[in-house]
Amino acid sequence: MQDKAHAMLVDESHDEHARMDFVATWKAHITSRISGGNHTVYESRVKPALHKALARAPRREEIHKAMKREPFWQMTSALKRNAQEMMWDSTHEVVTRQQDNLAQRYRNIAGGNRKKGSLRLDPAMTVPRYISAVDIHLMPGNYHTDLMDDDVFAGAIYDRGVHIFGMRPKVGVNEGAGEFTLRFLRDQFPNLKPRRILDMGCSVGHSTGAFAKAFPEAEVHGIDIGAPMLRYAHARAESLGYPIHFSQQNAEATDFPDGHFDLILSYGVTHETSNRALRAIFRESHRLLAKGGVMMHGGGLQYHGMDPYEQFVTGWDTHYNAEPFIDALHELDLPQLILDAGFRKQNLFEGTPVRFPERLKLQGTAKSNDYNLNGAYLFCGAVRE
Ligand SMILES: C[S@@+](CC[C@H](N)C(=O)[O-])C[C@H]1O[C@@H](n2cnc3c(N)ncnc32)[C@H](O)[C@@H]1O
Repeated sequence: MQDKAHAMLVDESHDEHARMDFVATWKAHITSRISGGNHTVYESRVKPALHKALARAPRREEIHKAMKREPFWQMTSALKRNAQEMMWDSTHEVVTRQQDNLAQRYRNIAGGNRKKGSLRLDPAMTVPRYISAVDIHLMPGNYHTDLMDDDVFAGAIYDRGVHIFGMRPKVGVNEGAGEFTLRFLRDQFPNLKPRRILDMGCSVGHSTGAFAKAFPEAEVHGIDIGAPMLRYAHARAESLGYPIHFSQQNAEATDFPDGHFDLILSYGVTHETSNRALRAIFRESHRLLAKGGVMMHGGGLQYHGMDPYEQFVTGWDTHYNAEPFIDALHELDLPQLILDAGFRKQNLFEGTPVRFPERLKLQGTAKSNDYNLNGAYLFCGAVRE
């Protein structure tokens, strides 16, 4: 079945469709049925040997070093890496085939005169090194590379990559992360009625769309570094009827006035951003919030208090999936960073809608399950006084 939820979705031939379905289920199979066997290898062989050699509990890096010598870890790690490459190969192929057509679809929508939102690009944007240096999670060209005029390539492959990652649901709007964010936000602030919302690092506007739908009275803005992501986001939002204002800006320093927003959100950005930039993003959020406004960033965990083996499994992407900031983010004291940005201690909050340790236990003890962290991400934030 072709999914036609919005006008920017790529067309998939029978074979392309089957290939992407295969990659989705193969990825899930590796995670849920194969790589959990590492837990058995660790408990039965590696952990006793490490305890004996060190005469204390091993740390994350020591576990990593020892597990790297284990053939089962080598195999599962290679399978995971390869499946991630297959995901981008399959999306790359389908998007490349219709790249001109997608750019034309974008032009038709962006040039229309009945638009509800807007798009503001900045051709002089300096792409920060933490985006330009690495193809994050192996996505070819990362978020910022323009391959032609009016290019939407990065947006289109990202959109399909998220769809595969999310197990190819029939309706592919990919708004799950946004809904998940809203669930936690509503738990914390059931009566929140924001007038202006900013989604930082909005990528193709998956979550921004969910925010616009949840708060139809609010003026909703989405910012991102990547022009091809934003073109896709704009056309996608218009096609879905969302009144969203997208602009190409670095969340570390935007051109919005002081106190302009009463809700600032991000999802999946903190773990893809350098520690220095993260501090700047928290400071900028503080500047942009009106008194009583809420900042909430989601998508990262904290290693503090987490079992070292869990840390090791969680950090896999840092070493093998071109996510260089994951371990470093998880080691940070996020509440302290938020305080450093100007917020007050009594106004901080953090948590997750899924009880993370319970989830880990549940999945880690299942016969051969790997830990699957989808949906167990931590949110942290603060109210501006
Ligand atoms: C994983 S995606 C975010 C997903 C999206 N928030 C969602 O919920 O669907 C990370 C995005 O953050 C953007 N990004 C990273 N650092 C940024 C910064 N300093 N300013 C603006 N965007 C940034 C990247 O370009 C990328 O599109």
